[in-house]
Amino acid sequence: MSEPFYVTTPIYYVNDVPHIGHAYTTITADALARWHRLLGDDVFFLTGTDEHGLKIQRSAEANGVSPLEQADVTSARFREVWNSLDISNDDFIRTTEPRHIASVQAFMQAIFDNGFIRKGTYAGQYCVACEAYYTDDDLVEGNCPIHGRPVEWLEEDNWFFELSRFEKPLLDWYEAHPDCVHPVGKRNEALGIIRQGLADVSVSRTSISWGVPVPWDDGHVFYVWYDALINYATAIGYGADPDRFARYWPAVHHLLGKDILRFHCVYWPAMCMAAGLEPPAHLGVHGFLLVGGEKMSKTRLNQIFPADLVTDFGVDGFRYHFLRDNPFGPDGDFSYEAMVTRYNTDLANNFGNLLSRVATVVGRRCDGIGPAPDPASPLGAVAADSLRDAAAAWAGLSPSNALEATWRLIAAANAHLETNEPWKMDPGPAVDAVMGDALEVLRIVAILATPAMPATCAHVWERIGLTGTPAEQRLPDAAAWGGYPGGLPVRTGDPLFPRISTK
Ligand code: MSP
Repeated sequence: MSEPFYVTTPIYYVNDVPHIGHAYTTITADALARWHRLLGDDVFFLTGTDEHGLKIQRSAEANGVSPLEQADVTSARFREVWNSLDISNDDFIRTTEPRHIASVQAFMQAIFDNGFIRKGTYAGQYCVACEAYYTDDDLVEGNCPIHGRPVEWLEEDNWFFELSRFEKPLLDWYEAHPDCVHPVGKRNEALGIIRQGLADVSVSRTSISWGVPVPWDDGHVFYVWYDALINYATAIGYGADPDRFARYWPAVHHLLGKDILRFHCVYWPAMCMAAGLEPPAHLGVHGFLLVGGEKMSKTRLNQIFPADLVTDFGVDGFRYHFLRDNPFGPDGDFSYEAMVTRYNTDLANNFGNLLSRVATVVGRRCDGIGPAPDPASPLGAVAADSLRDAAAAWAGLSPSNALEATWRLIAAANAHLETNEPWKMDPGPAVDAVMGDALEVLRIVAILATPAMPATCAHVWERIGLTGTPAEQRLPDAAAWGGYPGGLPVRTGDPLFPRISTK
């Protein structure tokens, strides 16, 4: 039976439309899902929208619509944008769906029944944009540390989750699972938060009604974060399908931005423990995509939307850029110029050029029929190295290194052509051997680059005469040197990636 691979993105708030920061996480999750499908794993890839809470309620009021109308429109927008970016999620969860409401109630009821929820009064500084309380120490010049905006004083009677009782269990869990948070700096950050001491947290609200009702107390709804985190459990059947839940939990891979580390790396593992579950096994935390050194935000009017870039770079050019140029972990500054340079170098001059050279020479020197590769070609060893390094990089949550390893194979094939100059040779076995090797590289690259560029790779596959798709291939066997059978028609055509002028 194949291995389960469960990968999630955060669920996105529906007060904002998708920008390149959201796209970054979603594309990374998509590429991982696609890589694991190539490995033959039983992949379940989840994304969705976070639709409750004060932030959404207020944004709906400002737009003169009901919160659900606002959520319907914006959630649909997220789906459309993900479709346009070739995102292959297996499910799209909305927190307003009945399946989720039932699951939140069952999950929180389990925590309540296990004795980890008590009544209390809460008062504190609240940032509506974060949907979070802050202590005075957290504030920066009296403002929210994330948004830089004024906080509000809120006071209410509500239910508390006894997070303080999980300090020791969490520290023990971190010690027993040294690799649970990636990269290691973010793991240390989570440990730092726990070691500073954990206060109980309020999990319900009476001041708003836009949320999941607390099953044991009418008039209370769950605070949006304690509804939202549970989406990861809902989608795999928490409370509804125990076998399915047991298949995918706890071996999940949660991807998230550094601003929501506290919720995912401290609160969520504790909630799981309180509900009698294992905490999530893998938490991948990435930095922000900055624009001109600043975090993108609606209020700063510096957001960049996927469509702005897809027009110039195409869907796969867009996907490739964010996977290749923004290593997972640190912040990265977005630059249009850097994107053009990377596109021209890696895609137009390397990948695209390899295909067009091969198609042209096979057309002129081999009657348009692709020859088989040489089993003893030196490129065979390069291909094996690329596969090994790419596999290790995907496993280590490093798409950038995985693609770098794949592009080494492309570069080696281009160098092989330049050394042998098949375009100067007469038709015959010598030309056939060089072209067969180059075709075999294209076949292997089409498989290895599929997670980043699914449509382009399917196109390359077809251009070199193969049937089916690269996505249907299974690693590692499919990438073993010698798979291109020869005797297939190779088509010339438009450039894969037309060069973009730097002027
Ligand atoms: N709804 C919560 C998540 C709940 S998950 C149980 C939320 N939503 S969000 O829409 O505000 O943010 C979703 C994700 O987008 C977060 O991981 C956040 O870090 C990420 N990004 C938002 N802006 C970003 C950048 N500029 N760069 C990279 N990612 C950023 O938080």
